[in-house]
Amino acid sequence: MNPSSTRSDKLRELKNYLLFLKDYGYTEIPQQVELQLGASKKADKKTSSSSTQNNPALLQAVQEELGDCTRCKLSEGRNKIVFGSGNPNADLVFVGEGPGKDEDEQGFPFVGRAGKKLTEIIEKGMGLNREQDTYICNIVKCRPPGNRDPEADEISACKPFLLKQLEAIKPKVIVALGKPASSTLLGRNVPITKERGTWHEFEGIKLMLTFHPSYLIRFYTVENRKAVHEDMKKVLEVLRK
Ligand code: URA
Repeated sequence: MNPSSTRSDKLRELKNYLLFLKDYGYTEIPQQVELQLGASKKADKKTSSSSTQNNPALLQAVQEELGDCTRCKLSEGRNKIVFGSGNPNADLVFVGEGPGKDEDEQGFPFVGRAGKKLTEIIEKGMGLNREQDTYICNIVKCRPPGNRDPEADEISACKPFLLKQLEAIKPKVIVALGKPASSTLLGRNVPITKERGTWHEFEGIKLMLTFHPSYLIRFYTVENRKAVHEDMKKVLEVLRK
């Protein structure tokens, strides 16, 4: 919750959060309510702390190196490269799979239906601000035709740029959304239903695995929604340390 927000802003945020909890299957208010609502105060901290590297400039250099990329066959069918969006100084980075139709048209990640769900998880579920507190990108930067999973050669061509993005941002936590992102970051086949909610490490950064928002939309069960919410509570605990 933004410290400068007015009483009515705070009440609206609280109402949204309670509605979110109800939707996510809670029948009682969890003790961590303060944790969620205080989260963005903590997330502001890194922006004002003394990071010696210039993350926005580093990130821009990565984008320039990517250029008008034709390194793999996905470039043939794309409209726009979807590099990433959010705060280059964020403590938290979400990594998805690849742009869909809306993202390909607009050039920004997670702006379609799955994006709405992800924003809901970040803003209502975690009490963070999507643009200020997170950075969002994908395993591949161009839309796979028909929204199929990205193929191995496409991932290999694009992965160096994801690595450089993460190196530029140096977040405290990375969240891999779904199986392709989890498998790519861990370099092995990840059974996501079994491994979601577990901590891993990627290049010295804490990595949490969770369901992709599209999976949540497709299998809209209280159990799945609660699982993602539990995973994000673990992420918040680490961000607050
Ligand atoms: N799904 C993804 O994995 N990434 C996006 O940017 C949009 C939908």
